[in-house]
Amino acid sequence: MKDVSGKVAFVTGAASGIGLGIATALAQAGAKVVLCDIEKGALDKAVETLKRATNADVTGVIADVSLKDALQKAADETIARYGKVHILVNNAGIADGSGYGAWTDKAWNWTLGVNLMAVVWGVEIFGPLIEKQAAKEGGHIVSTASIAGLVGGANPYNATKYGVVSMMEGLRPVLGPRGIGVSVLCPGFIKTNILTSQRNKPERFAESAPRPAPATPVAMDLIKMVADRVQTGIDPLYVGALVREGIENDWPYIFTDNEFEPAIDARFAEIKKGFDKIRGRVPKRG
Ligand code: NAI
Repeated sequence: MKDVSGKVAFVTGAASGIGLGIATALAQAGAKVVLCDIEKGALDKAVETLKRATNADVTGVIADVSLKDALQKAADETIARYGKVHILVNNAGIADGSGYGAWTDKAWNWTLGVNLMAVVWGVEIFGPLIEKQAAKEGGHIVSTASIAGLVGGANPYNATKYGVVSMMEGLRPVLGPRGIGVSVLCPGFIKTNILTSQRNKPERFAESAPRPAPATPVAMDLIKMVADRVQTGIDPLYVGALVREGIENDWPYIFTDNEFEPAIDARFAEIKKGFDKIRGRVPKRG
């Protein structure tokens, strides 16, 4: 897609942070934007502010994206209003941060639902809708993973973000020939409301007992470091502008900064060492 102007975009998690940054950049560039979110008050405010700031055709739709039926309903509302859709941004996400010794089934299920299954369902529901006019008008799917999708972590967050990276990498060669570009957004630390994700936890994921404390002082230090870095993080509007550029130029990976590039290089080097250990050996087969 060479130009987002005049296209219809559906953005999840658009009432706050990175999603609002992306919705803003797309609206400023002349796209019609459906902002989807679970948090009604924030969504209403975001839509009003964006309308005033850009005079663009923007609208809000409430949905808990961890429920497939709710996402389908939001897609139906989008088609009812605009007749078609060109851009899907699977961005809604939560950070539970429960590592070894502190995770629970509820934490896993909430994180899997919002961060991964909503992406799967987004592609399943919106893919065919975008395909309808992709050959003539272009189409694009962006999903927000994280640098945590490229650097290991024994927690639900990293596991779901790895899943999102895998999905987008795998879909790119499948959807490209159908006229749909595919990108994965892997932000570093961005100044958003992610630290208060619990504010939008659906009742069915509520814990029935107090959560275990983080396993070690190291884990507590890590949580504090992440909180500090998010609070002083990159402006989400900057991220939104990058995503627009990524869509218009069909970037496979959209990064926000180079902070974690050495960590990713180190991971690849470890993987390479694993191959080096068995290089030249002939495995027995059959
Ligand atoms: P945020 O909390 O400011 O925005 C997330 C939005 O998603 C909120 O508006 C929230 O209401 C919505 N949301 C949460 N659960 C939902 C549900 N079940 N259904 C629909 N909407 C729901 O946080 P942020 O940081 O803007 O998060 C956006 C994405 O960016 C997430 O996928 C997150 O994992 C990712 N990310 C954030 C980073 C950061 O440093 N802030 C770094 C890397 C990735």
